[in-house]
Amino acid sequence: MTAPNPSIGRIYLDNAATSWPKSPQVLASVTDYLTHCGATAGRGSYQSAVDAGRWLLDARSNLARLLGASQAHDIAICHSGTHALNAGLWGVLRPGDHVITTSAEHNSVLRPLFHWQERMGLEVSIVQCDASGTALADDAIGLIRANTKLIAIGHASNVTGKVQRLEPWSQLAHAHGLILMVDASQTLGYLPLNVEQESIDILASAGHKGLRALTGTGLLYVSPKCQTNFMPLMLGGTGQASEQVQGLNPWPLSVEVGNLNMAGVVSLAVAARELLESPDGLSDAQGECHWKSRLQSFVMSLRAIDGLEIVGYSPPFEVQDRIPVVSVRADGWDVHDLANILDTAFGIEARAGLHCAALIHQDLGDQHNQGTLRFSMGHTTSAAAIAYTVDALRQILAEEAA
Ligand SMILES: Cc1ncc(COP(=O)(O)O)c(C=O)c1O
Repeated sequence: MTAPNPSIGRIYLDNAATSWPKSPQVLASVTDYLTHCGATAGRGSYQSAVDAGRWLLDARSNLARLLGASQAHDIAICHSGTHALNAGLWGVLRPGDHVITTSAEHNSVLRPLFHWQERMGLEVSIVQCDASGTALADDAIGLIRANTKLIAIGHASNVTGKVQRLEPWSQLAHAHGLILMVDASQTLGYLPLNVEQESIDILASAGHKGLRALTGTGLLYVSPKCQTNFMPLMLGGTGQASEQVQGLNPWPLSVEVGNLNMAGVVSLAVAARELLESPDGLSDAQGECHWKSRLQSFVMSLRAIDGLEIVGYSPPFEVQDRIPVVSVRADGWDVHDLANILDTAFGIEARAGLHCAALIHQDLGDQHNQGTLRFSMGHTTSAAAIAYTVDALRQILAEEAA
């Protein structure tokens, strides 16, 4: 870990990878669980096992409420966003199916799809995104075939922070009887989402980014319709029907197979409850998230730095349809060198590179595929940390120019 800046505290701007800090309530509940319970869910009838089982039910039910799903049963707890995405895709796709996705997706969508294209005869089409990092549903219409089964779309780019409008994708999918799968890893906790209102069939997400559960958590919502014939990614013990060695575990145990990360389950239950019960802690009186005004001032200050390009933004540089992720490139600079100087000379933790998004960078005008320097704020990133970061960048670029 980088030495903290003495006056401002730690400047952690990689919340899109995983968020820090977690909330005091999450930390207190996890500590209490580890200290006084420590048992696992669904494996015994003694009191601490029952308590662990309650945490699992709470996690599923709080997440269902947060996502507007009608039943807690429609949520499965996962180990990461990657696990949730792989489990969701594998659950419904079969050899010979055709999938439409976009160039803005994370590799945890692209890699399984391309691997299964090579190994099991899946067919994959990509809709290219625009210079902001979003793709148009209209561009997917001509790609629909007789065997098209599913559209996989990210709710926001983890490189540019641009939020994808889901409504046109939902309309397209349902007009053609396709499954709509949404990757909400970057938006959950930052933006409201309602799977029933938006007609989302499958929603996969990390739990440890904007939602602020522990790293090593994820979740998968699958609509009752898609739970039928859902193919499990893994098989094994669930604590139920232990005499059987054949047959598939029923949903959601088909995904929650093996012992879960119980500290993570507790953190999911509490993080989701916090968002449900006290959104005021994260929003102002008008319901606007605190991060939004800080993001706007960050973008405006970055814009004023000579030689710095804010990737995926154009005038008037508004943040209305953004999450708190900003990527930059600087004339004549390798983004990795910039990240290194920010870390070592200023104690600012930010990430450089392709951000596990293999296909978006060319669409963002990055001919050499070097990627971006990405700053991702969290719910509690302070205005002082933002001002310090802008100042550091200004100094670095000004020294280079001198
Ligand atoms: C858009 C998106 N999808 C999926 C993932 C994968 O999540 P996890 O790191 O929990 O596997 C990430 C992580 O960065 C992401 O940004």
